[in-house]
Order: sequence, then C-alpha cells, then structure tokens
Amino acid sequence: MKTQVVIIGGGPSGLLLSQLLATRGIDSIVLERKTKDYVLGRIRAGVLEQGLVRLLEEAGCADRLHAEGYVHDGTLISYGDEMFRIDFTEHTGTPVIVYGQTEVTRDLYAAREAGDGKIEFEVEDVVIHDADTEAPFVTYTREGEPRRIDCDFVAGCDGFHGVSRQSIPRDVRREYEKVYPFGWLGILSETPPVNHELIYANSERGFALCSMRNATLSRYYIQCSLSDKPEDWTDDAFWQELKRRIPADQAETLVTGPSIEKSIAPLRSFVTEPMRWGRLFLCGDAAHIVPPTGAKGLNTAASDVHYLYTGLRDYYETGATDGIDSYSEKALKRVWKTERFSWWFSSMMHRYPDQSAFDIKMQLADLEFLRSNKAAQKAMAENYVGLPY
Ligand code: APR
Ligand code: PHB
Repeated sequence: MKTQVVIIGGGPSGLLLSQLLATRGIDSIVLERKTKDYVLGRIRAGVLEQGLVRLLEEAGCADRLHAEGYVHDGTLISYGDEMFRIDFTEHTGTPVIVYGQTEVTRDLYAAREAGDGKIEFEVEDVVIHDADTEAPFVTYTREGEPRRIDCDFVAGCDGFHGVSRQSIPRDVRREYEKVYPFGWLGILSETPPVNHELIYANSERGFALCSMRNATLSRYYIQCSLSDKPEDWTDDAFWQELKRRIPADQAETLVTGPSIEKSIAPLRSFVTEPMRWGRLFLCGDAAHIVPPTGAKGLNTAASDVHYLYTGLRDYYETGATDGIDSYSEKALKRVWKTERFSWWFSSMMHRYPDQSAFDIKMQLADLEFLRSNKAAQKAMAENYVGLPY
C-alpha cells in the first residue's frame, strides 16, 4: 500500500490530523492498535480551548459541540471555605467550552467514517522504517497478516505508550519528566453539577475538582494516594471526602448519587525533544504529558496538530518546507508554556506529602495574590483559555 501520511494512533490527535488533511485532499491511513469502542471508552477531560474549537470547525466536526457544549466564561477557585472566580471573558474576551473530549473523539470518528477515511483497527507490531530518509515506510500486522505502507511522512499520534517516540534514536532524544506523588480519583455520576462552573479546590485534606459533562452528568475528582485503588473507595466515602474539600456552602447543595465510572489517574509532566526526526513527527501525548489540572492534554495536542497540518498542507500545495522544518521548534515553544501552567496550577492546588508549614503558607499566599490581583488573574485566564498558536 502507499499513502501520503501514515498516522499511528486513532485517538483525538491522530483523528483530528487525518480529518484536517482530508479537507485538503491529502491522503492518510490511521493505524490504531485497539478497537474503536476501546478508544471511545477512554476517560478524558471535559474542557476545550477556543483553538481546539476552531480546528474542529475547520475539520467540519464542531456541530455537536456547539449544540451540546457549555460556554464557560470563568472558573471558581476555592481554598477552605473561601472561594473566588477567574473571569475568562473579562480578562481575555474568550470563554472555554465544556464538552467531553470523548465526544470530540466520537465526532472525529463519525467524520472520518463519513468521508471514507482509512482507519485500520487492532493492528499489531507497528514498526517505523527509514524515517530519516526520503522514503519512510511502516510495517505492521493485522489478523496475523504482515502489511507494509510506503508513505511520504509518518505522524506519531500513538500516545505516551506508543512506538513513535521510541523510534527516535535514544542519543537524539532528550526527555524531561516530573512524577507527582499523588493521583486523581475520579467519578462520573448522573447527578446535577454542584455549580454551573468548575470548582478547583485546595483544602488541607487535598485537592478536589467539581466538573460536569451536562446538566445531569457530573464529573468529580479528589486527590488520592498513589497506593489507592478505585475499589478502596465506596461511593459514600468519596462523597464524604469531596464534601470536606469544597466550601461548606457548596457541600450543602452537592447532590450525590451512584458512580457510573470510577478510576484513578497518576499525574505526570513529561516532554520529549525534538518532536521531529526526519519524516517522523510526534503529536500529542506521544511527545508530552501534563497533569490534568487545567485540562491541557488534548488542548496542547491540538496546537501540535495545527502546526503539523499547516506544514504538510503547505508542503503538498506549494512545495514549501518551512512549516514542517519549523514544526518541532514551534510546537515545543507552546508545549513548554502549557507544561509550566499545568505544573504551576498543580503546585498551587494540591497538598504534597513533603510540604512544610512554610510551603503551605506560600501556597495560600499564591491563592490570596491571585484572588486580589487583576494582572495575576489575567495571566491565569490567558493560560486557561489557551495561549495563541
Ligand atoms: N500502534 C497503533 N496504535 C497505537 C500504538 C501502536 N503501537 N500505541 C498506542 N496506540 C494508540 C492508542 O491505542 C490510542 O488510541 O494511539 C492512541 C493514542 O491516543 P491518546 O493516548 O488518546 O493520545 P492523543 O490522541 O495524543 O490524545 C491526547 O487527549 O483526552 C486527551 O488527556 C488526553 O492528553 C490526552 C490527549
Ligand atoms: C473534566 O471535566 O474531566 C476536567 C475538567 C478540568 C480539568 C480536568 C478534568 O482540569
């Protein structure tokens, strides 16, 4: 087989790139190791930056998110019983859209299928060959049958545990990592959200987040120990702990109910450089990971996809190579800024096992400064709604 771009990974990064390329008549084949149902079953965050919304509009996949998504002009931040609001629209003129990123993935699959996009599921043994030549190719097996695709370019959109990053020689790659000493225990419940906006809560018992998917589906998280397992937490224990971590007036109105999903996610900051090697380009979680404080995972994958899509578009339409040649440098400039924001927001909102009394005082001073200083709020808002591409 031959195609212009082989995309490894059928998550939101790979699907968005494939769909955008298709709008310019650029042919791609997506190779996904799991089934579509498995990919759609992945738990994902629920906040979209405007940059991602615009890309989905360009890809022709934004109708449902505009119909069902919620425009959020701000977010709430609490510490103990204190709570204040960051007004995104006042400071930036831009809101965010609350819409499940799983729904984004579903919309992208629907668009690829409607456009007869080529997606191969349950592939195995994917190997990238000759990425540092003019004629890369990818081999893999499907149903035991060996396959080969010759291509012009390979997009590694296969997430943190994929093969693409590992295909860049170890002596070329520089990796940066921070592992956080706690996880997020999250539940989904068919209950009305406790507030019409998100609440990020710092409490002496640890972090909590009150989010939502729609008016009758809520998403809640509490910081938990890395040794915890979901089954260690009954629903009642979860609700009691959440109530202890959010302001009392919010806890009083919290509607609890049975969890329909319960899982624990570890927190990590990670970046690999460069994000390009020859004709292999890394996008999304294949190249970087952020802690979920601020929901920057998919929103940073989106800017990677934007840079790569526009670079490949220009290459195929005009022969220009400056877009693809500057991809890694441009993508990493924004990646590091979102890594910093996610790390800063996580540092301010979580309780760390080794924190001293002074450290906690610094955290509370950070929160008080953010609460009282318009410039600090503007900086927070600009990062939260999404820095420019
Ligand atoms: N061969 C083929 N597919 C693979 C391979 C492989 N060797 N390894 C991984 N994959 C597939 C996975 O099964 C997965 O569906 O690649 C896909 C990668 O998808 P994600 O892990 O969701 O990564 P990405 O598409 O970059 O999404 C980025 O979306 O919702 C957010 O928080 C989420 O930060 C994440 C972001
Ligand atoms: C979510 O709704 O799942 C969510 C929202 C904001 C975050 C993380 C997760 O920062």
